[in-house]
Amino acid sequence: MSDTLNIIILGAGKGTRMKSTRPKVLQHLAGKPLISHVLDTCQTLNAQNTIVIYGFGGQMVRDELASRKLLWAEQSEQLGTGHAVKMALSQLPATGKSLILYGDVPLTTADTLQKLVQANAEGISMLTMSVANPFGLGRIIRQDGKVVAIVEQKDATDEQKQINEINSGIYCVDNALLHRYLPALSNDNAQGEYYLTDIVKMAVADGIDIATISPEFDFEIEGVNDRIQLANLERTWQAHQIHQLQLAGVQFADPARVDIRGTLQCGQDVFIDINTIFNGNVVLGNGVQIDAGNIISNSTIGDSTHIKPNCVIDDSKIGQSASIGPFAHLRPKSDLADQVKVGNFVEIKKSTVGIGSKINHLSYVGDAVVGTGVNVGAGVITCNYDGVNKFTTTIGDGAFVGSNSSLVAPVIIGKDATVAAGSVITKDTPDGKLVVARSRQSTIEHWTRPVKK
Ligand code: UD1
Ligand code: CA
Repeated sequence: MSDTLNIIILGAGKGTRMKSTRPKVLQHLAGKPLISHVLDTCQTLNAQNTIVIYGFGGQMVRDELASRKLLWAEQSEQLGTGHAVKMALSQLPATGKSLILYGDVPLTTADTLQKLVQANAEGISMLTMSVANPFGLGRIIRQDGKVVAIVEQKDATDEQKQINEINSGIYCVDNALLHRYLPALSNDNAQGEYYLTDIVKMAVADGIDIATISPEFDFEIEGVNDRIQLANLERTWQAHQIHQLQLAGVQFADPARVDIRGTLQCGQDVFIDINTIFNGNVVLGNGVQIDAGNIISNSTIGDSTHIKPNCVIDDSKIGQSASIGPFAHLRPKSDLADQVKVGNFVEIKKSTVGIGSKINHLSYVGDAVVGTGVNVGAGVITCNYDGVNKFTTTIGDGAFVGSNSSLVAPVIIGKDATVAAGSVITKDTPDGKLVVARSRQSTIEHWTRPVKK
């Protein structure tokens, strides 16, 4: 099939200006490596395969991306963008077309890439843009409106330097043309590099019309070379995501003080206060209120639930009309039903908590199955770990566990059972009964306080 799509991602650059031991494409933006943004975007394009050109720190890149289905091509010496793409030729089919992307240009949208692929009718389409300051970038040379060449900053005449339309470096090119033109590139230019851009004038000489399209957003073609650009692009991306959510009806107390490192999906009338970070995939239902200082990762929060200040919530599920925090820690696999209340200094791990149950103060609930309408008093601890193995604590519906009790797992607290405060429970307790497991209080009659000598 002639319209089969391949993707070639250039990522051989060392990124010297990052001053890092890690290759540039592994630097993080919005919580994940630059190149992972590119790969994730490409997933929607249904490409036949993706070839990553790697060089400096290549093993680190391969290790980081080991779980993905990719082809690899090494460019051990960086002799230019044309040379880099040439490294992919042996793995590139003779027909079909290739999207050429960069591991350090993370935010091109799938929409733009799709348009670029569609624009490739004659063999080459490219992403260009008019910018206020084109310095350092390749300029698009047009005659009678048609693209005839790309000239690099260092090769440009003074007149060409006045051109504002720049080359993003992103193209969609027929594989047949890559196979024909790349071996014929020369490095006879100001930088002594094999310029990928030279394929444009070769194609024009063959009578091919070069199509151009422009991205919707400026950030789509922005690359990263140093920590300042990386931080700026991070801010641009955060502002963009927040802006989209505002348009969709989410209220932010201050759009500049929330970070989304992943995807945040919100219902209607969600309010998000300052200094909150969302990691991975987070879903907030209608009317959710997130107070200041929360860190929420890969979690789902039901309608009308209130997350009070300074909670850490990881890989958890919270039902509707629940109330969490302040200062609660929900560790992975906490599954809290509707109307659950979790108060301050409570840690929950790998536990289910039934409808309307309350764990209001200073408790640790781990590996537990807590029923509905349970009241867990202040300072209750599930002793789930013997130093080697983990055990389950089961608390029946309607149970009342008195303050400062230790529930030594494996153990079952019966339905509607009451555990007296300060108990150490080592055996299952019956339904509906009061259990007291502590030493009795006694008074020492003839005791006197010691006096200072
Ligand atoms: C290139 C384009 C220029 C365009 C600019 C956009 C050429 C000759 N010029 O500039 O028209 O405006 O991109 O940013 O293509 N890379 C390799 N191996 C190499 C050289 C580069 O993998 O041998 C990778 C780099 O890691 C980087 C990307 O290619 O991700 C672009 O390289 P860079 O040197 O920044 O671009 P220029 O060649 O200056
Ligand atoms: Ca260069």
